[in-house]
Amino acid sequence: MASRLIAVDGIEGGGKTTQLSFVRACLERAGHPVLVTREPGGTALGEEIRALLLGHREGGMALSTETLLMFAARSEHLERVIRPALAAGQWVLCDRFTDATYAYQGGGRGLAHDKIAVLEDWVQQGLQPDLTLLFDLPVAEGLERAGRRGAADRFEREQQAFFERARSVYLERARRWPERYRIVNAGRGMTEVRAQVEALLAGWLERIGG
Ligand SMILES: Nc1ncnc2c1ncn2[C@@H]1O[C@H](COP(=O)(O)OP(=O)(O)O)[C@@H](O)[C@H]1O
Ligand SMILES: [Mg+2]
Repeated sequence: MASRLIAVDGIEGGGKTTQLSFVRACLERAGHPVLVTREPGGTALGEEIRALLLGHREGGMALSTETLLMFAARSEHLERVIRPALAAGQWVLCDRFTDATYAYQGGGRGLAHDKIAVLEDWVQQGLQPDLTLLFDLPVAEGLERAGRRGAADRFEREQQAFFERARSVYLERARRWPERYRIVNAGRGMTEVRAQVEALLAGWLERIGG
């Protein structure tokens, strides 16, 4: 059957990266070849851009620069990795995608969503994830978990209010396009989150006939 693009997204500490290999296993068990990748990054140049975006720098970075770098990395990723993989019949599983730009640069930092939409249209040319698993949990819990993970990157150092706005944008988008999103209640223990992921994927795969 046709290849698919699947994203996992959500605020810090939801367990996206932790569950990625389990998502992959579920898809492979259903008979689909999976390429796992991440944003920002996923290519050699994209990973260099990631380092620029996540690294600390005196005086920070203009919001326009940050957003353009996100889409520069995404463009490279789409052209060199995602589109070729999809064309070759692979399923692509991506740790974060454009929802994160709407949530962080849009919600978190206040960039107008129509500015993001212009870049999205240009770079993606209509390509959207077929499924986005949104790992949702209270901000304080997510930050607490992320804090235990190690040194905070440039985004993780933001205040709780930044992530509250980001979380709201994710949830608004999930409510607006319910056919594309599945919300994981990520505030639960590892075993329960995994069971939710498995059930949501099984339901979605059945719906698309895969
Ligand atoms: N369900 C869970 N309950 C408790 N801790 C978790 C859970 N899922 C992940 N963690 C831990 O929380 C931290 C953040 O998880 P991670 O997968 O890096 O989140 P994300 O990629 O969404 O930011 C990690 O240390 C991870 O081991
Ligand atoms: Mg992660």
